[in-house]
Amino acid sequence: MRVAGVMSGTSLDGVDVAIVDIIGEARFRTVATDGGPYPKAVRQALLGVSNTVTHVAAVSRLNFQLGEIYAQRVLRCCKKAGIDPKSVQLIGCHGQTIYHEGMKPVNTLQIGEAAVIAERTGIDVVSNFRERDIAAGGLGAPLVPLFDVLLFRHARIGRVALNLGGIGNITAIPAGADVDGVLAFDTGPANMVMDQLVTRYTRGLETYDRGGKIAAKGRVDVRLLDELLRDPYFKKAPPKTAGREQYGGEFLERMMLSGLEIEDLVATATAFTAETVAMAIRLAGKRLGAEFAELIVGGGGAKNACLMRMLGERTGLRVMDTAKFGVDSDFKEAIAFALLAYRMVRGRPGNVRRATGAAHPAVLGKLTRAGRF
Ligand SMILES: Nc1ncnc2c1ncn2[C@@H]1O[C@H](COP(=O)(O)OP(=O)(O)O)[C@@H](O)[C@H]1O
Ligand SMILES: [Mg+2]
Repeated sequence: MRVAGVMSGTSLDGVDVAIVDIIGEARFRTVATDGGPYPKAVRQALLGVSNTVTHVAAVSRLNFQLGEIYAQRVLRCCKKAGIDPKSVQLIGCHGQTIYHEGMKPVNTLQIGEAAVIAERTGIDVVSNFRERDIAAGGLGAPLVPLFDVLLFRHARIGRVALNLGGIGNITAIPAGADVDGVLAFDTGPANMVMDQLVTRYTRGLETYDRGGKIAAKGRVDVRLLDELLRDPYFKKAPPKTAGREQYGGEFLERMMLSGLEIEDLVATATAFTAETVAMAIRLAGKRLGAEFAELIVGGGGAKNACLMRMLGERTGLRVMDTAKFGVDSDFKEAIAFALLAYRMVRGRPGNVRRATGAAHPAVLGKLTRAGRF
């Protein structure tokens, strides 16, 4: 079955599309990928409604506008790769999270109207994956762990899959584990803090530390790092999720108060990400009574050489890119949502109990049929 996965994460850097031919549970071939930023005005509008007090009108308008954008991006991906959209049988669209509350009563909101996507593309759409997991007592996140287990588990090697988006998350997969034997949770901010620092200092000219070049020039300030690590989130028992709201403006102000130069601030933020990942892996190891040897990294942060180096130093694990497993790290989550959509139409569960904390495995997503009459 040919499925398009559409992912737009918390970093708001844009929309990733991956078209895959799914052959079995964990077997697929990527046939096309395409990524690109949101139009500037749309990104601004999204920032204006994300985790903040806003007018419902703004949310309603964006819901339909994003539907148009997601449809365009799927069609563009097909066109660039010379694929007939008619050959695509299903779209799995995550949508844009504009609100997520990981504390009780847990709730979440992803927008990007599936009816618009189905109408414009003529393809069935699975969307709104998180709600069912929450209804089943889970946190609705993370949802990529099933993909991680199916793809990366190894009979004799303990592995940790790490995604470095706006937020970081790990799936700890002990050697020989099955789906119920893994543990997954958000590690805290991954690129989010670095991105904001860079955006502020370059007045929006740059939105991230390309290749980790700024961090590489700076020095990690141990005092500030220790202070940032004091956040009780890092010691909290999983399941747990971290959101944009915890690491926004106020958090940045706290860092700026240190009076450090930009290079040192970015270096410290980079070390902060690496150290929180290391802490998360230790926490997972303790809870699972397992040891890990390999760290498989996906998400945009995998392109940050300084961060990848610090991850190796602070975790002591062999760090590799998902590309080693045939998965382009930029499109790992888009591919994961293609697989989740496929599972939905097959009536198979998509959540992992020890990732979201749900009471039971559940079929995730809502199906919008494209048929016209
Ligand atoms: N070449 C690069 N060098 C360093 N960081 C990068 C690079 N490309 C992307 N990133 C980082 O990855 C982030 C986007 O990652 P992504 O996996 O798309 O996150 P999300 O799912 O939250 O949108 C960017 O905000 C940026 O911080
Ligand atoms: Mg992204």
